[in-house]
Amino acid sequence: MLESTFRSGLLAGKNAFVAGGTSGINLGIAEAFARYGARVAVMSRNQLKVDDAITHLSQWDKRAIGYVADVRDYAAVERALQNFHTNAGEIDLVVSGAAGNFLAPAAEMSANAFRTVVEIDLLGTFNVLRAAYALLRKPGASLISISAPQSTIVSYGQVHAAAAKAGVDMVTRSLAVEWGADGIRVNAIVPGPIDGMEGMARLAPTPAARKAVRASCPLGKFGNTEDVAGLALFLASDAGRYMTGTVTYCDGGQVLTMAGTLTPAAVKRMLASEG
Ligand code: COA
Repeated sequence: MLESTFRSGLLAGKNAFVAGGTSGINLGIAEAFARYGARVAVMSRNQLKVDDAITHLSQWDKRAIGYVADVRDYAAVERALQNFHTNAGEIDLVVSGAAGNFLAPAAEMSANAFRTVVEIDLLGTFNVLRAAYALLRKPGASLISISAPQSTIVSYGQVHAAAAKAGVDMVTRSLAVEWGADGIRVNAIVPGPIDGMEGMARLAPTPAARKAVRASCPLGKFGNTEDVAGLALFLASDAGRYMTGTVTYCDGGQVLTMAGTLTPAAVKRMLASEG
């Protein structure tokens, strides 16, 4: 589908670093960047996932490279970015997508649990974008952070992710303002219900739950990783050259119905089924 939308050399000559790019939505973005001609690097905590992602991405980018680092560890993130810069040159595209989440009602959530998600999602986003700054192509770089509907819609059992992702939105906007003069664009994507993702499988495990998710979307269906990659391609390419500081939903319109699927009853059901 994307093939008919974007020309094949769209990102030729661009160097792209995708934090969290070894699975799910982020791997879908890394794949799209590679398919459209970028040289890609991915980073995650897990060596096996990095190895699998590189095998996959090598179909389109023989020089695809992977790094093992935790986004909470600034020095490790900086080392990975510097190594990519040394190998590939100035970095054109950065995606900060590493995230962690679990369901936990606030009254049962430890302070450490709250801190863990805030550190992965929010501090991790700042770390990746901040460490990239000195290595970016200026002007011209495009940075994309991955937010979530929780940043604006309150969902039961998600106080940590809500706080973290609201912070991600504001980091995105702040950096857009501060780095605009360097010719750096910074935007956020808010993926909606994307089929096949770990979180969605836990959120909507039954046909009835899947039907309810579809019904909450004006477009009446789940999205897929290619749908999110299409928005990332737009923001990464020249097509999005006047876009900065935006927080854009890619969710089939679900946010408009305000039909967050994490209702108290749904969360209690899920927690009970997890034992
Ligand atoms: N419910 C409540 N608390 C939880 C929890 C859950 N399901 N999972 C983790 N925590 C708490 C831990 O108990 C710990 O707090 P404590 O020290 O007070 O007990 C704290 O969170 C840190 O947990 P830990 O497992 O040590 O952190 P980690 O850095 O190794 O991993 C996650 C954190 C979020 C990555 C991990 O919980 C996880 O694997 N989540 C599911 C996978 C995932 O997040 N995928 C991405 C979806 S966007």
